[in-house]
Amino acid sequence: LDQGAGATLETRAGSHAFYEGASAATTLGYGQNYLGPILRARRGGTARVSLANRLDAPVATHWHGLHIPGSMDGGPQMAVAPGAGLTRELEIDQPAGTYWYHSHTHGLTAEQVYQGLAGFFLIEDPEAPDPGLPDELGVDDLPLAVQDRNFSPEGHLRYSSGGMMMMNGMKGDAILVNGALRPVASVPGGLVRLRLLNGSNARIYHFFFEDGRGFHQVASDGGLLQAPVAMERLTLAPGERAEIVVDFSTGGTRLLSADDNNAMMGMMGGMMSRIMGGGSSPDNIRGADGFEIMSFEVDPARRAARTSLPATLPGAPNGEMAEPVARRRISLEMMHGMRGGGGMMGGMMGGRGGDSPGPFSINGKPYDMGRIDVAAKLGTTELWEVVTDGMAHPFHVHGTSFKVLNVDGRAMDFATTGLKDVVLVRERAEILVPFNRPADRQTPFMFHCHILEHEDNGMMGQMTVS
Ligand code: C2O
Ligand code: CU
Ligand code: CU
Repeated sequence: LDQGAGATLETRAGSHAFYEGASAATTLGYGQNYLGPILRARRGGTARVSLANRLDAPVATHWHGLHIPGSMDGGPQMAVAPGAGLTRELEIDQPAGTYWYHSHTHGLTAEQVYQGLAGFFLIEDPEAPDPGLPDELGVDDLPLAVQDRNFSPEGHLRYSSGGMMMMNGMKGDAILVNGALRPVASVPGGLVRLRLLNGSNARIYHFFFEDGRGFHQVASDGGLLQAPVAMERLTLAPGERAEIVVDFSTGGTRLLSADDNNAMMGMMGGMMSRIMGGGSSPDNIRGADGFEIMSFEVDPARRAARTSLPATLPGAPNGEMAEPVARRRISLEMMHGMRGGGGMMGGMMGGRGGDSPGPFSINGKPYDMGRIDVAAKLGTTELWEVVTDGMAHPFHVHGTSFKVLNVDGRAMDFATTGLKDVVLVRERAEILVPFNRPADRQTPFMFHCHILEHEDNGMMGQMTVS
């Protein structure tokens, strides 16, 4: 992106047959039928991106995880009108890592992302020491966007934002990786880096390999971990990223995920979403105690560039942050409308109606584009206590990366979490949030639940940094 004219992303309608036997579904994409290209930018450079909107709806495009000013961030205030365009110069100054971009259009984020408005944004740092990880993009370094979808019998994308779909978030029973149903990746028989993005609207994944092989996590949302962390299972909530290194020297295997039962009111919600989410979608093949995400086959003709993992990852962010100057409580609420009288039931029956906020709120207030909820001071750090109500919520803050101190009563070790911009909170978490980029009243930063139906229906607030 920092070379020549950069990239032009044209939001447009497309059509795509997602699996064999499916008829072409109507989709959205950035310059392609579904999703958008992988954007790559270098730290220290300026990434030039032009957005052109060929849809008949407005589209705001947000750079998720980027440390850029509010005026560049692509929040709901920066929607591009149908037929219009806009150019952004993003000054990249943050750790190398796996970030992404997606629609953030007021009230339409969930549906537009579901239809395809999302893509990867990778940052490289030419000044940082080489961590010694697989890094040949598309060969032993694979960005993988995991998304669940529902298909009609003909293979059309089905989206429903009403009823329990809104309460629990839209979940599908077919899993796509980079837009493909149960794809097979051909990999060299050595170490391979997988950049996993949970680009789903609401589904939480618990990834593991069918043959039980372990793997190492080497990066989280905001860049490298200080050393590889060995594990057998990885949980990723919507919006989160993790880079893992897997050893394929003993052959291929399948990547699976355990079921996600995150739903309001526990069992009832889970039951409802199972009933409503069912249908004639191409069922995912089940194995062990999970469902298939994708599989890996070793290509013996390919030589692995890396066969051993470094003990430490030089250049990883160290997580040092200033002492917090303020403590703030952020309460994520699902029952706001109950107090307002009928709002929640109205929402459950009818889904989102025009501009009227849904039943969700933060600190008692549903999202309001014209209201500033938090005024933070540039150059300071705050301690945020995030508490939930009803179900687990992946909490996200724009314009920064934060440090997770504890989650649901467990102290978190920076060595295993790294810098984050989404944290899954079942009950309560404390995070240290630094504010290093400015945002004014016209173009504030958002903070919200990354279950996109919750975000669209009011579980979002706005913040200035000055
Ligand atoms: Cu990934 Cu406010 O978004
Ligand atoms: Cu974001
Ligand atoms: Cu939520």
